[in-house]
Amino acid sequence: MTRIKSNLNTKIQRHKEVVNTNLTKTDLIYRKNMANRSRRNTRHIGMNALRKQHKNHASELEIEVKEYQETVHAVMNLDCIELLKKIPSNSVQLIVCDPPYNINLAEWDNFDNYIKWASNWLIESERVLSNTGNIVIFGGFQYQSEAGSGDLLEIMMYMRHQSNMRLVNMIIWYYKNGMSAHRFFANRHEEIAWFAKTKKYIFDLDAVRIPFDQETKALYLKDKRLNPDNVEKGKNPTNVWEIGRLNGNSLERVGHPTQKPTEVIRRIVRAMSYPGSVVLDFFAGSGVTTRVCIEEGRHSIASDISTDLNSYLDQHIAKIKPDIFSNFVPFKLLTKTEFNSHPVFSKYKFDQG
Ligand SMILES: C[S@@+](CC[C@H](N)C(=O)[O-])C[C@H]1O[C@@H](n2cnc3c(N)ncnc32)[C@H](O)[C@@H]1O
Repeated sequence: MTRIKSNLNTKIQRHKEVVNTNLTKTDLIYRKNMANRSRRNTRHIGMNALRKQHKNHASELEIEVKEYQETVHAVMNLDCIELLKKIPSNSVQLIVCDPPYNINLAEWDNFDNYIKWASNWLIESERVLSNTGNIVIFGGFQYQSEAGSGDLLEIMMYMRHQSNMRLVNMIIWYYKNGMSAHRFFANRHEEIAWFAKTKKYIFDLDAVRIPFDQETKALYLKDKRLNPDNVEKGKNPTNVWEIGRLNGNSLERVGHPTQKPTEVIRRIVRAMSYPGSVVLDFFAGSGVTTRVCIEEGRHSIASDISTDLNSYLDQHIAKIKPDIFSNFVPFKLLTKTEFNSHPVFSKYKFDQG
């Protein structure tokens, strides 16, 4: 068990989250009259129309963050379905889901019927997410012969036709470092599909804005058409993220073969959850989601079928530098007998069986 103490007192924070919706009535009116939809953004038009009428969009939510003195983290070695069955409905804000790719990368990466297996955790994920909840699913589009019994394309088809969750963004994670190829264009991206449980999903854009460089900022601040507040805050990172993959000698590496960079996970956690909310990762691998949750003041549940998770996570935790996070909150890794003190299990006790 590791504990890091900090003198910071976490106060109740009112966290204004701008929450997008899919099409509103206003959007639909505009959409009907629009000849070329591809040249305009229906969501923008609806939002701008409301602003002109000095009205707030119904999707602007205020989330009240409960007081917490420390974040708590449950770490387990369970099959994903076994874990999900123990989690109460509507109790999780964000699921970071980086499933096996079905390309025989390791012994856990081979399936006779991938989508049949995946549908079990997709159904359970929808159940455990709260109404403001989000799930991101990592993956790629495999070559025809490699895709075998399924890949992210199959998951997308399944979600569109069999699930009520709604696709918000397909994020392209673009990296410059990758394998070379001679029979096709070398691959330099991976996809992250973001689904929300309802249209009231959390999206904290301000938490992930990218600052403009000084020159651009000065120029934009002179532009009367632009909102100076937004120019000060920085730009939307867009749905194409250029973040390097971890090289073999990367300082972040803890030894897991498919470990994701903290920068990718951090942007997801900051934008799609809020301080004091619960993040779940049932294909935890190296435990990177737990590390980021500790650093970002979120509670977490992480599980992997492999017990290697435990030693990988120890290494991640050793790399945490609390002093570089201005809001660092103390954290506690719960032992099995303490799981009932986790916010998710405090009401419906954790089934130890
Ligand atoms: C792609 S990796 C996750 C990597 C992780 N996101 C990271 O950045 O470290 C997938 C993980 O799923 C685990 N896994 C495979 N089948 C599983 C199952 N049925 N239940 C739980 N975990 C499983 C594997 O052990 C592997 O660590």
